[in-house]
Amino acid sequence: MIRYDEKSRVFTLETAHAAYQMSVDRYGYLKHQHFGDKLGGGCCEGLLDAGFMSFSPAPDVAGRDYTYSLDLTAQEYSVSGAGDYRSPCLAVNFADGGRNPDLAYASYRILDEKPALEGLPALHGECETLEITLRDRWTNLEVVLLYSVFAEYDAIARSAKIVNRTGAPITLDAALSVCLDMQENDFDLIHFWGRHAMERLVERTPVAHGKICIDSVRGASSHQHNPFVILCDRTATEDAGRCWGVSFLYSGNFAACCEGDQAGCCRVTMGINPTGFHWLLEDGESFQTPEAALVYSGEGLGALSRRYHKLYRRNLCRGEWARKQRPVLINNWEATYFDFDDDKLVSIAKTASELGVEMLVVDDGWFGNRFDDNRALGDWIVNTEKVRGGMKSLCDRVNALGMKLGLWFEPEMISEDSDLYRAHPDWCLHVPGRGVCRGRNQLVLDMSRKEVRDAVHDMMYEVLSSANFAYVKWDMNRHLTDVWTASLPADRQGELYHRFILGVYELLERLESEFPHILFEGCSGGGGRFDAGMLYYHPQIWCSDDTDAVERLEIQYGTSFGYPVSAVGSHVSACPNHQTGRTTPFHTRGVVAMSGTFGYELDLTKLTDREKEQVKEQVKQYHKLYSLINDGDYYRLLDMTRQQEVSAWEFAAEDGARAVLNVVYAHVRTNYIPPVLHLRGLTPDASYRVTDDSGNEVGTWTGAVLMHAGMRAPRPSDAPAGESDYAAFQFELERL
Ligand code: DGJ
Repeated sequence: MIRYDEKSRVFTLETAHAAYQMSVDRYGYLKHQHFGDKLGGGCCEGLLDAGFMSFSPAPDVAGRDYTYSLDLTAQEYSVSGAGDYRSPCLAVNFADGGRNPDLAYASYRILDEKPALEGLPALHGECETLEITLRDRWTNLEVVLLYSVFAEYDAIARSAKIVNRTGAPITLDAALSVCLDMQENDFDLIHFWGRHAMERLVERTPVAHGKICIDSVRGASSHQHNPFVILCDRTATEDAGRCWGVSFLYSGNFAACCEGDQAGCCRVTMGINPTGFHWLLEDGESFQTPEAALVYSGEGLGALSRRYHKLYRRNLCRGEWARKQRPVLINNWEATYFDFDDDKLVSIAKTASELGVEMLVVDDGWFGNRFDDNRALGDWIVNTEKVRGGMKSLCDRVNALGMKLGLWFEPEMISEDSDLYRAHPDWCLHVPGRGVCRGRNQLVLDMSRKEVRDAVHDMMYEVLSSANFAYVKWDMNRHLTDVWTASLPADRQGELYHRFILGVYELLERLESEFPHILFEGCSGGGGRFDAGMLYYHPQIWCSDDTDAVERLEIQYGTSFGYPVSAVGSHVSACPNHQTGRTTPFHTRGVVAMSGTFGYELDLTKLTDREKEQVKEQVKQYHKLYSLINDGDYYRLLDMTRQQEVSAWEFAAEDGARAVLNVVYAHVRTNYIPPVLHLRGLTPDASYRVTDDSGNEVGTWTGAVLMHAGMRAPRPSDAPAGESDYAAFQFELERL
């Protein structure tokens, strides 16, 4: 619900458990007041003002009223150059060289809908939106702020549109999406760092004085940092404390800045990274920033995550696959790498179909002259030496086995040894007359150019319409360098990073609307573009190139803070694992991969009979648990930032009727006493029957006992013989 009190000039946005409040202050600035627990209909105007501090200037409109400074005022949209020295959202260079916009409140509207953002990902669905226009007192530059309220999830979607009404061109040196100013600073910042094959590791750090900047300048959101941060009370745990999530719906360069200031306040900003960004806005033009989703929880990190999970499942992912049951797949990458032909693929598909697997995904290597990773990216034409008879014939053979067929592409890339490069050597990102940086033997296509996108589109369209494809994996295996485009003059090259990702979004939108029945899965060398922007286009993303079940515990744990399990691509792979060399029980690999969009990535024809039986059981179990895992509430039961020995997590149905508890050991120790697990999401007074992985009844307890007293995790030695190393246990709970 959105309220505006004319008299006090206070805006209040109310959600199920939270209130977001801002006001137009005595000098006409839009001041942030509160985002947190509900205010009982009250208003905090005047209670939190910081007052005077020397060396904090008063704006012109305040004259010599030094009790007022933008430097000490909580902002809704911070601006550089006019007396607020903290992290800005907006930095503008006017035609006269001036850089000091003075943004005052101008007007507001309340809309009964969620506006779409042209060319950009955005939340959708039923909601109210507050639109506030700010206007520069000197030049008429306008900033239009949008606040869409997703009340059920305590979420506010925010973005800003910069409108040039100055009568002359301006350039934007920074145009971020959101500023969240807190009037105190006893907080931790949680962010998600990593590297290739080890993404989204949780780091929690106190916010001190100065800035913490979490960002990417790689042209993709990246493996290294994720465009999602959480600010929380220092004492916040899974079940208690205030937490604020700031999640960016964007897949390119981003910057999240968290600053502790001189007044003991804290500011978090999120938006397009100003590094490498420089945007010319002609008079009358506007620039729409991407959207950020703010979520509040006063009940700890677990509730915050569950709110994001539901919000993204229901109001971000689109299309028929957003809610439809995803097929269990077999991907041939770790099974064959580049070494396959149609017969090999069909033999894998045949075994897979006998075991209950539903779809074969043909990964890298089916096109052009692609026998290794040195060549052929850009030549999206089937290699009939490998796929003899072409895609239609392969698809028919796979379909005849009762299996669907999926295909891998890497649309944004080009190999120098490719027909596409030979025909258009100027289509890659490069600066004429200079050398290029190579990564994985490939260059990056200039996706900002329409003719490049059209050419890639036409090749992909041709392939995808040639057979009955059910799935596409959209990969991206290197970051951007030599960022220069022939389509822009020298002084506008700073637009290219953003135009690149807009081009990628446009191509995705085009193909996905042409092939609405195809399930698209995102990928970037694993989880290098695992962000809320991509989830608007693909409801699932390959989580990491690290398929080791033990390493996946930490990767999937970190991912769960901001993203739903229905988005997490996860496969059972061969052992010794191809990334770590580790051998884990087949059962453990199944339990871990099941907490994601389940599949296999190994040569099923080489499995032992016992392992084949296990595949059958796992597929059956996944189907049985599907709605619980994908629509249920997710609970992290142990803090992996404090110990990595054992991981435990639970899915509980929203109504508490069923739950599944997963426990996986990463280390075996002697004389080890396993931790007590407090289950969550159960009906306190009801009784639950608990059964183990073998279907044996363990006992019956009330929900209250299981939640409040808890149950001790099994010991690794409780696993079947030979499986105590990296043992996994899965318990099902049924309300009686
Ligand atoms: C990186 C992906 O993450 C892998 O799953 C696989 O598709 C390879 N690329 C293929 O080149």
